[in-house]
Amino acid sequence: MSQSDSSQYTWAGRFSEPTSELVKRYTASVNFDRRLWRQDIRASLAHASMLARQGIISAGDLADIERGMAQVASEIEAGSFVWSIDLEDVHLNIEKRLTALIGDAGKRLHTGRSRNDQVATDIRLYLRDSIDDISILLEEFQTRLLELAEREAATPLPGFTHLQVAQPVTLGHHLLAYFEMARRDAERFADCRRRTNRLPLGAAALAGTTYPIDRRLVADLLGFDGVCENSLDAVSDRDFAIEFCAASALLMMHLSRFSEELVLWMNPCFGFIRLADRFCTGSSIMPQKKNPDVPELARGKSGRVYGHLTALLTLMKGQPLAYNKDNQEDKEPLFDTIDTVTDTLRIFVEMIPGITPHPENMRNALRQGFATATDLADYLTRKGLPFRDAHAAVGLAVRRAEQLGVDLAQLSLAELRQFSSLIDQDVFAVLTVEGSLAARKHLGGTAPEQVMAAIGRARRA
Ligand code: ARG
Repeated sequence: MSQSDSSQYTWAGRFSEPTSELVKRYTASVNFDRRLWRQDIRASLAHASMLARQGIISAGDLADIERGMAQVASEIEAGSFVWSIDLEDVHLNIEKRLTALIGDAGKRLHTGRSRNDQVATDIRLYLRDSIDDISILLEEFQTRLLELAEREAATPLPGFTHLQVAQPVTLGHHLLAYFEMARRDAERFADCRRRTNRLPLGAAALAGTTYPIDRRLVADLLGFDGVCENSLDAVSDRDFAIEFCAASALLMMHLSRFSEELVLWMNPCFGFIRLADRFCTGSSIMPQKKNPDVPELARGKSGRVYGHLTALLTLMKGQPLAYNKDNQEDKEPLFDTIDTVTDTLRIFVEMIPGITPHPENMRNALRQGFATATDLADYLTRKGLPFRDAHAAVGLAVRRAEQLGVDLAQLSLAELRQFSSLIDQDVFAVLTVEGSLAARKHLGGTAPEQVMAAIGRARRA
């Protein structure tokens, strides 16, 4: 084996021939894990500080490591750092360069540490930062929803069940439904962050280390809330990443539902909204087309996030303790989930202000669907008719209105009284969309005053 074969740099001693080129390519992760470089350097510096504090390396070694790492960081930042698949992953690439720069102190950095606890630490740091970014974006998304909901707090929209007109709601109320989903999403990410933010370093390869390390010091230096209590668990489980993917899958499911509604609402058959042109694309063949590609793509991207969740669950399920190389496969699904969720939230934050409602079309749709039929039944019930009888009477009235091609409110009093003599002139207030909305004035209801109250509570929270 040639001395210059850098792939043998780390473990050459025990090997009688170099790794095959195919195996090198197959096992290398540097092309995708190099995005962990900042975390890798940060964790190494904390580890080195602790080693020096504990007298495991000298103060001079620590100073060299700090100087060398600053140089490595600036090379990576500048794009002049040479990444090599011969050095497998981000950890060995950085360590090799550090050693080239500072000599023996670089070789002492890995004292009391393994790539197993190193990579677990890097991923947790990276994910923690990503969760923080996502939490900020989620908050912006919620703010945009509240702004639009406030403007449309009293705008009537047909509420659907089975995608058929059911009862009037306000557009503001409808948007607040997505606000609530996002609120739970934010809670899930915050919860996942708590379990992510624990330090694996110190577990070394699997069993801990023989050096007098201080794990709590390293945890403090890196802003972890505590240490992973069991060394075997610390290096092997990736449940925090799976939790993150599960929270992401739920978030994407919510964004996908919202996307689906935007697509429907943009269709001229609905015509409920216009979406700003900057979020639409045309067709290469049909000159008249304006397509909602952006919400469609957001809907589609939920698929890959669900896939990543399944990939990580499957990745873990058959692994004996402790670390196995399988775990290297955690990164691409995790990174792609982070990227997809981040980009999709950014899109929504930009897109929501580009939504222009068309209230007249929403109202027309309401007129065609007998949306206040339940209000008429409730009216009769208030006058003493049992609800089931009221339901039946209104059913007949709807049938009659349908025959005549009119809305319930367009039937004359005489006509309405054929279905129940309890009906009086005051029925017409009940049959209006505004009356229907205003009547649902309890906590969580669609009445404009309740929508405004909900927005107020949301802002305070
Ligand atoms: N690149 C590896 C990973 O992502 C780092 C840990 C490698 N450990 C080992 N014993 N081969 O998991």
